[in-house]
Amino acid sequence: MPDAPFSSALVARLADARRVAVLTGAGVSAESGVPTFRDPDGIWARMRPEELASVDGFLANPDLVQAWYAHRRETVGRVTPNAGHDALARLEAAVEARGGTFLVATQNVDGLHQRAGSRSVVELHGSLARQFCIACGTDADGETDGTCVACGGRVRPGVVWFGEALPPEAWDAAENAASRADVFLTVGTSAVVYPAAGLPLVAKRAGAYVAEVNPVPSDIAGALDEVVVGTSGAVLPALVDAVEAVWAGGGTNSADGR
Ligand code: OAD
Repeated sequence: MPDAPFSSALVARLADARRVAVLTGAGVSAESGVPTFRDPDGIWARMRPEELASVDGFLANPDLVQAWYAHRRETVGRVTPNAGHDALARLEAAVEARGGTFLVATQNVDGLHQRAGSRSVVELHGSLARQFCIACGTDADGETDGTCVACGGRVRPGVVWFGEALPPEAWDAAENAASRADVFLTVGTSAVVYPAAGLPLVAKRAGAYVAEVNPVPSDIAGALDEVVVGTSGAVLPALVDAVEAVWAGGGTNSADGR
């Protein structure tokens, strides 16, 4: 069997970790068929973020923005979690069964981690599943016609747009997990949108072993302990298999000397 793309140090650190935290981005859903944002065929190559992901864009053309999010909702409704999501859910269950803690902080709004069985998930950029009134804040159900049933105000997608604050509870949980993690994985994110992109660096400064999984090293890769070059759907199942092999007493199957 060829060498794994990750180090034996990462496998050993994960096998010993009491606290594991993971940041995910659009790349983790790419193999499910959900487009990323900044890859050459990504959403922002075709669409304008200021029109579709800002309050001003929404107020200028609410019907266009609602139609685009309805299209994205429909896309994620058609797809299923992939091997990367499944591996993170498997790792969470195993770490927790051994008495540890595990958190996925995701920038994704697609709900695929939860559908794969991950239980400790915080959604840093909100969720496509939520819609709420811009006037009174009341949640709308999926059948909304775009008008709030409570006050008649406009209903908007429950996602975080450029210039908006992250949901405070989600952010606090993510930052807390990053600052306490023994191992921190940053998976499928270009790490250019802050504050989420700062979480791996928070973890690194606090002493975690920080590894990235991405076919293209991100902007922050140079500041991390390890960059595993590959897709999450290929790397994460192999990594979790390797950790489980250590727990089973079977040693590691990974590249030596790193
Ligand atoms: P990006 O589109 O910026 O980055 C996607 C990353 O996934 C890139 O680094 C790719 O190399 C990587 N990638 C692609 N395929 C992959 C695969 N199969 N496995 C692993 N990695 C893969 O997406 P995000 O970093 O999530 O915000 O973007 C952050 C935020 O910017 C999003 O949450 C969204 C966007 O504007 C809002 O809408 C507020």
